[in-house]
Order: sequence, then C-alpha cells, then structure tokens
Amino acid sequence: MSNAIEESLQTFADRAGDPAPLVYRRLFAARPDLEPLFVGDRTGAARGEMLSVVFETLMDMAAGGEARRHMIAAEVVNHDQLGVPGEVFADFFDLVAAVVRETLGPDWTPSMAEAWGDLLGRTRQLSVAG
Ligand code: HEM
Repeated sequence: MSNAIEESLQTFADRAGDPAPLVYRRLFAARPDLEPLFVGDRTGAARGEMLSVVFETLMDMAAGGEARRHMIAAEVVNHDQLGVPGEVFADFFDLVAAVVRETLGPDWTPSMAEAWGDLLGRTRQLSVAG
C-alpha cells in the first residue's frame, strides 16, 4: 500500500473509532434524498458492511492492485439499480477521503493529499468508466 494512504488510514482508525456515524451523517447531510434507500437497513449492518468494503477497496487499490475492478463494476450495476448512479457511487469514496482528511486535521500531509488524489482518480475511473 502507498505509505501515505496507510499512514492516514491508521491515524484515522486510531482517532475516529467507529467511522460509520461520521461518514453516513455527512452523506445524508449532503444528500438527504439518499437516506430513504437505507430504510431496510434497520440495524446499520449493511451500512457498516458497505463502509468496510469501501475501506478494503481503498487499501487494496492503494497497494497498486486492480483486483477490485470486477467487484466495483458489479457494485456499480447493483447500485445503479438501487437508484445510485456511477457518479454518486464514486462520490462516496471522495466523501470518505474528506472525513479522513478532516479527522487528521494538521496531521494531513502533502504526500497524503497527493496519494489520495491519485487514488480517488482511480476509484472514479473504475466507477464511471467501468
Ligand atoms: C453514495 C453512494 C452510495 C450509496 C447511496 C449506496 C447505497 C447502498 C444501499 C442502499 C445498500 C443496500 C443496503 C441494504 O441492504 O439495505 C448498499 C449496499 C452495499 N454497498 Fe453501497 N452505496 C453507495 C456507495 C458504495 C460504494 C462506493 C461501494 C464500494 C464498493 C458500495 C458497496 C456496497 C456493498 C458491498 C453493499 C452490500 C452490503 C451488505 O448488505 O452486505 N456502496 N449500498
């Protein structure tokens, strides 16, 4: 994995505890129209599982692998059927990055910014272009 991504996620995990409330609060503040999609997820288990898959995907891709390409392509189709187009799907990776960046505050370094910029370009490309 890119050291800068690894370092940022490690610091984030140490500081944030459970990231799900932070991430989903922010998602629904920005996009209240998406909240009703999760009505079936009464326990929050699906939201938690989705977020852990997102972190695993980010870590795998930061390690340079394209092993997640097919999973992302499949989830883009599933999510499109749920009413979440590829662009909005890709936005979720950016939102997670913003939460990491804000949690790190002054500990967010220029090399983290650069590594995340590159990674988010790749997640968007796989989400939108397939
Ligand atoms: C704003 C963007 C997104 C929205 C609104 C969204 C919405 C949803 C919804 C409504 C579900 C079903 C919840 C349920 O079962 O009731 C779900 C499940 C899931 N999502 Fe997303 N999603 C987004 C982005 C992503 C991204 C970027 C990934 C990355 C791979 C992802 C991976 C998953 C997975 C793996 C599940 C299945 C979880 C489970 O039930 O085990 N989602 N998502």
